[in-house]
Amino acid sequence: MLNLILLGPPGAGKGTQAKLVQDKYKIVQLSIGDMLRAEVAAGSELGRQAKQIMDAGALVSDDLIVKMITSRIAKPDCKNGFIFDGFPRTIPQAEALDTMLKDSGIKIDHVVEMRVDDEAMVSRITGRYTCAKCGAGYHDTLQAPKAGGICDKCGGREFTRRADDNAETVRTRLKAYHAHIAPIAGYYAKNGVLKGVDGMAPIPEVTRQIAAILG
Ligand code: AP5
Repeated sequence: MLNLILLGPPGAGKGTQAKLVQDKYKIVQLSIGDMLRAEVAAGSELGRQAKQIMDAGALVSDDLIVKMITSRIAKPDCKNGFIFDGFPRTIPQAEALDTMLKDSGIKIDHVVEMRVDDEAMVSRITGRYTCAKCGAGYHDTLQAPKAGGICDKCGGREFTRRADDNAETVRTRLKAYHAHIAPIAGYYAKNGVLKGVDGMAPIPEVTRQIAAILG
């Protein structure tokens, strides 16, 4: 079993790397943002509560997030391990995670902090889009599909952009991240599991640095 947390600001490459780790290590990516967006698309009560907050770039309440995670990590596909992408984002979330894991006898093996330059994140995010069919991620200039307009993975021809991927909201999301990250990084540094990677390096190099940590 391998359990991993990816920390990093919006655009750091958490989702990009989590998908690669998922494929290589056969563990499941738990993207809290994707889970919330699925709730929004389904029109659930949780989705209704989360939508406005996400569109504004603020953090959804700890209670809702913790409830969602508690039921998610109990599912059978988590039995080989998981990668948290976008969780925890506050100290109460980190503490709640510890309690959850203690109750089920599971531990976090590595916390990888992706260190990047904020200004570069704005252009990474505003150029990002995903395949509407399989969810593969692309970027207008940094990572375009090999054959223009056709998804490399599934051949899909329709792509979507997130509602919160505009410059103004990205800046609010960056502020929300920085308001909480220092104590969270400190929390995991104290437990001896925190490692850093250079998130400004090209994608394959970041993957290599993460693989070196995971072993
Ligand atoms: P979430 O969906 O988690 O968004 P985020 O944290 O803002 O992160 P992103 O998904 O935008 O960035 P990423 O690091 O995954 O970057 P990516 O790999 O796509 O959260 C959305 C919202 O949900 C939050 O604002 C909040 O409201 C709510 N929420 C979520 N979790 C919560 C929680 N725990 N508590 C409360 N609220 C919560 O990469 C970006 C682009 O860059 C891509 O186009 C990619 O191709 C490119 N790229 C990636 N790596 C590189 C590289 N090394 N070099 C060049 N380009 C690269």
